[in-house]
Amino acid sequence: MRKPIITLCLLALAALPIAAQEAADQVAPEAAGAGEVVGAAEVRAAQDAKAEGMPISAQRWMVAAANPHAVEAGARVLRQGGTAADAMVAVQLVLGLVEPQSSGLGGGAFLVWYDAASGELTTLDGRETAPLEATPRLFQDDNGDPLDFFDAVVGGRSVGTPGTLALLQAAHDRWGRAEWSGLFADAIRLAEDGFAVSPRMAMLVSGDAERLGRQAAARDYFLPGGVPLAEGTVLRNPAYAATLRLMAEQGAGVFYTGEIADEIVAAVRGAEGNPGVLSEVDLAIYTVKERAPVCMSYRAHEVCGMGPPSSGALTVGQILGMLASYDLAALGAESPEAWRLIGDASRLAFADRARYMADADYVPVPVQGLLDETYLAQRAELLRQDSALAEVRPGEPEFDHSLNWADDGSIELPSTSHISIVDSFGNALSMTTTIENAFGSRLMVRGFLLNNELTDFSFRSHRGGVPVANRVEPGKRPRSSMAPTIVMKDGKPVLVVGSPGGSRIIGYVAKTIIAHLDWGLDVQAAVDLPHLVNRFGTYDVEAGTQAEALTGVLTSMGYEVNARALTSGLHAIAIGEDLKGGADPRREGIALGE
Ligand code: GLY
Repeated sequence: MRKPIITLCLLALAALPIAAQEAADQVAPEAAGAGEVVGAAEVRAAQDAKAEGMPISAQRWMVAAANPHAVEAGARVLRQGGTAADAMVAVQLVLGLVEPQSSGLGGGAFLVWYDAASGELTTLDGRETAPLEATPRLFQDDNGDPLDFFDAVVGGRSVGTPGTLALLQAAHDRWGRAEWSGLFADAIRLAEDGFAVSPRMAMLVSGDAERLGRQAAARDYFLPGGVPLAEGTVLRNPAYAATLRLMAEQGAGVFYTGEIADEIVAAVRGAEGNPGVLSEVDLAIYTVKERAPVCMSYRAHEVCGMGPPSSGALTVGQILGMLASYDLAALGAESPEAWRLIGDASRLAFADRARYMADADYVPVPVQGLLDETYLAQRAELLRQDSALAEVRPGEPEFDHSLNWADDGSIELPSTSHISIVDSFGNALSMTTTIENAFGSRLMVRGFLLNNELTDFSFRSHRGGVPVANRVEPGKRPRSSMAPTIVMKDGKPVLVVGSPGGSRIIGYVAKTIIAHLDWGLDVQAAVDLPHLVNRFGTYDVEAGTQAEALTGVLTSMGYEVNARALTSGLHAIAIGEDLKGGADPRREGIALGE
């Protein structure tokens, strides 16, 4: 039960009033303002550890996310006795400012929560929804042919009803201890005082200048005077600060009805050249959905994550389920045979994903059948050969409905952000959050970008008269690849992990779990381990790493191999006698703990 709110510090908004006396016992707010409770030296030490490939160790709590400012905000909350849910709110609000290309108020998210008090796992679905006026032909031209990807993305057509803020509020209502408004403090301060544009943000702005330049608000913010923001520029976002102040004072409801909702709708419907169909009703009826976690047994662990509308847990689970009968530990991380098994298990799982996985509220998804041990053992038998599978087709999972779906053709490009948190109460949180493509729809309202999540639907609605499961339908949630994961052993969490990366998320997360559980790598080494990702086409090996050394042998096995940058953003926390945090060297994040 909630205890009365106590106020800890009136001096700075950055102070965190904690709504529980026992939490307050752990709080040590600095008299001069809690904004200072995480020091620059701590951040530098975390960056140095990452550069050296060393995990961060801690005893009580840990937070890992994609930008140091955001991690600092989360660490402050945790240090002051907040829960993982409290810290997640602070982290997300800062990410929306300092990493606006990846996630924010205009997007959606999935959250997996382990509750230490009850021992239960819960998942919350804050995915964007298709507007009620949307039809299966949303992304088709007058002839029924799919639009080009970026013709669909930029503008209003791709914008789904955002779910992130509703998810933050839902998680805070259920598992928060800190006062809601205090969690906005760091984001408001940074938005008003300014923050230095990071190298990655500057690089992405520069690369996207033409598309950002098509939308007035995004142009003014990201290309002031027509010039892309340079790394190190001190950037202020007073519009975002004002928006946050309203939400801090009035709660998430202020986003879904009233002036903000009206402005979102006007931006979407009024987008020049590519208007969308989002309406005030779509925002007013938006709901966060609690869903059963989807778990797969693997090496005496339960790998648990987000079920439909995400394909994340199902596809990661299928890959691991097929690999369970193979001794990857004996083969080792440098074995071509191990990567053949992983690559073809992944191809088989992606074939099922393309046929069967979509929003289960709209199309029956054979969740049990797809993870059934006997079914996966049969699929795994296909791997008993020396070379790449010549042909990969969807299987026939056990199911009690008609399964007459055509394969889909959705395009997912890397984007998104992942937050992993363990708090001092033993709760664990894994949340992947997105506005889809980098900079989403490029439409900006009140200091934040609107998503292009609807392009995660299949642009093709039918093939040969057979409907695609992941076609657009009014109110439906587009299929995701996001795979926020908590690995359990004996009923307790042992690993929190997730990543951005479009449909490659699935490969990044599966690899990290295998590297940690089978190959015994610590979380930082498991995150660092070079990627080899096979979805359904080429075998992608991470350019400039040891993975490239496997090119010859994988080619001789029959794969088409493609060396390319594989920019995951893995953030992982291993929970054992102590906490170990790992942050992806491919991005700018860190792990901090105490
Ligand atoms: N838009 C990224 C995903 O949901 O997978």
